[in-house]
Amino acid sequence: MQLPPNPPEQDHLRIVLVGDIVGKPGLRAAAAAGMWFRRELKAECLLANAENVADGAGIRAPDYRRLMQSGFHGLTLGDHIYKKKEALELLATATNIVRPCNFPPGSVGKTHMILKVRETVSVAVFSALGRVFMRPVDCPFLAMQRELDTLSSDVKIRIVDFHAEATSDKQVMGRLLDGRVSAVLGTHTHVATADEQILPGGTGFQCDVGMTGPFESIIGRNIEAVVESTLTALPLPYHVAKEDIRLSATWVDVSIATGRCQRIGRLSLRLPELEEYIAGMTPGTLRL
Ligand SMILES: [Fe+2]
Ligand SMILES: [Fe+2]
Repeated sequence: MQLPPNPPEQDHLRIVLVGDIVGKPGLRAAAAAGMWFRRELKAECLLANAENVADGAGIRAPDYRRLMQSGFHGLTLGDHIYKKKEALELLATATNIVRPCNFPPGSVGKTHMILKVRETVSVAVFSALGRVFMRPVDCPFLAMQRELDTLSSDVKIRIVDFHAEATSDKQVMGRLLDGRVSAVLGTHTHVATADEQILPGGTGFQCDVGMTGPFESIIGRNIEAVVESTLTALPLPYHVAKEDIRLSATWVDVSIATGRCQRIGRLSLRLPELEEYIAGMTPGTLRL
């Protein structure tokens, strides 16, 4: 786990993106981590990919409310975005959730959002969906460029969640947007990659932030059902697993004046440690 200097410089903003939150176990971990992110990590902008939060696929209003109550500022989603019908109203009304910008024009949801931090600092957040092993959508690279073209140059801090399967596509997105955005952080595979870096133009990059949920699983789902279904071709239900709950996240320190990423690091936190911190049972645990 890479912990940053604390606190960040006054002219930098520390932003956290929590990787795909899976089911109730993942929500529990994300909710518990909110306070730690703010108080100990000194993060001022908390983002999460919540595409799997409702039973492993989709999001409902109570999930959204719990994340907001836990201190999160904005949510991204992904290929499971519309799996729960309640999501449509949520996406139509909430100002701090985005849909992939390369969905068909007119799809429910916003193609980007601008969050206010410290009252005067704007953080633009984008989402795009990959096309390898995923539903056919518009070109994510051209769509992201179009989105950025619509954004005021006054908004310096720009975070992109590229929700995609292929690491090569994610590297293409990072290089394409290097210098135009503060960070390109991948989600969707549920497996964190060890390639966090700052690209030459000042863009923080990581192929995948990883999963927040039960790690004794196959990307969050019950192992036996996934294995049996794979061996028999039977369409068995994939319930969310329960054991070894961890949170995966990536933090970036971004210059408020220029939007350039100064530092980037990965976090892996276990639920028992987070809940001990919340309960104050072991002061000092998880302190930086
Ligand atoms: Fe996904
Ligand atoms: Fe996911």
